[in-house]
Amino acid sequence: MKKLILVWALSVSVPPCADADEGMWVLPLLKQQKFAEMQALGLKLQDYDIYHPDSSSLKDAVVIFGGGCTGEIISPEGLVLTNHHCGYSQIQRHSTLEHDYLTDGYWALTREQELPNPGLSVTFIDKIEDVTAYVAARLEKDEDLGGMNFLSPAYLNTLAREKAGEQFLQEHPGTEVEIRAFYEGNQYYMFTKKKYSDVRLVGAPPSSVGKFGADTDNWMWPRHTGDFSLFRVYADANGNPAEYAETNVPLRPKRWLKISIKGIEENDFAMMIGFPGRTNKYYTSWEVAERRDIDNAVRIHIRDLRQKAMLEEMLKDPDVRIRYASKYASSTNAHKNAIGADWAIQKRAFEQVRQAEQDKLIAWAEQMNKPEYPEALRMLEQIVSDRKNLRFRSWMLDEALARGIEFTGIPTDIQAVADALKGKDKARQQEQIRLLTLAYHRFFNATYSPKVDKKIAKIMLKEYRHLVPAHAQPARFSIIDKKFKGDTDRFVEHLFHTSIYGNPDNFSAFIQNPSARVLERDPMILFAKAVQEERKALVSALSDFDSNFASERRTYVKGLLEMYGDQAVFPDANSTIRLTYGQVKGYSPRDAVYYQCQTTLDGVMEKEDPENWEFVVPQRLKALYEAHDFGPYRMADGKMPVAFSATTHTTGGNSGSPVLNARGELTGINFDRNWEGVGGDIQYLPDYQRSIIVDIRYVLFLIDKYAGAGYLLKEMEID
Ligand code: ARG
Ligand code: ASP
Repeated sequence: MKKLILVWALSVSVPPCADADEGMWVLPLLKQQKFAEMQALGLKLQDYDIYHPDSSSLKDAVVIFGGGCTGEIISPEGLVLTNHHCGYSQIQRHSTLEHDYLTDGYWALTREQELPNPGLSVTFIDKIEDVTAYVAARLEKDEDLGGMNFLSPAYLNTLAREKAGEQFLQEHPGTEVEIRAFYEGNQYYMFTKKKYSDVRLVGAPPSSVGKFGADTDNWMWPRHTGDFSLFRVYADANGNPAEYAETNVPLRPKRWLKISIKGIEENDFAMMIGFPGRTNKYYTSWEVAERRDIDNAVRIHIRDLRQKAMLEEMLKDPDVRIRYASKYASSTNAHKNAIGADWAIQKRAFEQVRQAEQDKLIAWAEQMNKPEYPEALRMLEQIVSDRKNLRFRSWMLDEALARGIEFTGIPTDIQAVADALKGKDKARQQEQIRLLTLAYHRFFNATYSPKVDKKIAKIMLKEYRHLVPAHAQPARFSIIDKKFKGDTDRFVEHLFHTSIYGNPDNFSAFIQNPSARVLERDPMILFAKAVQEERKALVSALSDFDSNFASERRTYVKGLLEMYGDQAVFPDANSTIRLTYGQVKGYSPRDAVYYQCQTTLDGVMEKEDPENWEFVVPQRLKALYEAHDFGPYRMADGKMPVAFSATTHTTGGNSGSPVLNARGELTGINFDRNWEGVGGDIQYLPDYQRSIIVDIRYVLFLIDKYAGAGYLLKEMEID
């Protein structure tokens, strides 16, 4: 797996501040840091229209949707817009064979038909405060055993609760407070949030629209996906968060977005507010190389093998295709992301750019007599080098075994069952067998096929044993050599043949005649346990590096902030609310090729392929297309808009983010990036990176003309 790294003789210049469209900006700093540039690009609003510390502003219409997406409020009655892929699991959970909302879409015709979703929440950000001085004072005072207080969520949230006061929290149900570290722990903000847990599904297009193009088009531009779904937030009679109750009423929000169907044009100002998850802007050159040569190399290589085998089985058998559709999608999503990141690392010489920045810091620090910065860099280089082997083993274990082989996830805590079987207490035995059966069904579920797992396990185990040195493999694997002469295929066959988890017949036979001895010697359970234990050991060994690494990196970033001045750079994404701005723009992916910034329904029809589930176009959409029945949503040239691209700097978590024009009106919903742009998680690529956005006119057209749910538009402010 060693890669020949071509080091280019490039002269790289380090920009003192961010590229024009680069950045995920923190709202309280926006005014000083970026507002003038935004206005120069065309923004017509004042800074307090976007963010006001004490009164209502645009940011109040933007919410955290569920665990990892963004959503926006678009009506005074609590309608929330997000992506189809963000509401996917909710739509899936309401679907049955008779009412298959994933396939057919869903539209509530009345409020009563809006469907509750236990576990789903919508969170507003009420208040943002700079608490850097407060945290610094406490860090001085408090005991810090692991040396990680300055980044520890548990520690920081205790401080947040203390600062807010328990009484305040009790008097405000649904209110939560949290302190988050920025610039690797050089700055802190406290967020006061309000979390609503009665969120109901209002509507979703069929997957053939909401997921059109599926994996083939994922991370791709030009794009033709109607990736949206619609929900509504409910509250108690006082407008406070409350668990689901029939008596709850639609939330009357502080703020909702106005919608513009006037459309967009190339070079128009565009901005987004959202919750980007994680970026690695402050990677050192050594981490860039580590990411490419270990993390991405292992991921790409192993998933190539796994996905090929999975796809073969999916294409052979429609039952397998349904079972593995979602697993395949999530595997390819991260796989393509890693490929795109490597492409960008090479294309824009990230490693050399970082090296140059480090050299610049070292030279500056020498002049300023600040030896701690060069020292921090030396330490970071050392740690990356020291953790190399462990990191490789850990990635191999995760990708090839823990994720790659599904049965390594079977329940291995069988001691209670075995103990009960050894004892005389019949009731206890029955109870334990009942629990074991439940766990078995949870594993052996509608997304599992032992045939597929067996085939993939053979490939994964062979590759793992080939690439990881024998002494670095779990000790238990020695039986593969001893008993099976190193033949991993025969070993895997043996596991499936003998284990109670190997196939449903084995399990029923065991349940008929349960025995502690069989359970304790089950080879698949023992194998899974060995992998799970190895995983724990590796995580713990690697975490020994973490606290040193984090504190050296904090010092390194402190140096950068001092050298550049803290007005010029933005902190890494950390799932907190951010603003990014830029322009509606196409791009040139290759010599002589230019991708325009707007796609239309014509492109949907060009991609149509009734034989391929990814590109089926529903009959009704075709009929509307043929009749040119686009209502007020058509463009000046008569075409129906579908998606557009913009230079905004986004990442995972920005899905569902509102895209706003110069007047702050909603023009689209962000849902993806192009694969050439995913390297932007490390370093923005002005000429390549684009956010992929579903045009709001397509969304309204689908609600109004396609679904016949035009009554919902009456709640919205559309201009
Ligand atoms: N690439 C998009 C985002 O990360 C969309 C993912 C969902 N779609 C899919 N085909 N897997 O996360
Ligand atoms: N598709 C991503 C998301 O789900 C967005 C991105 O990575 O650009 O958040």
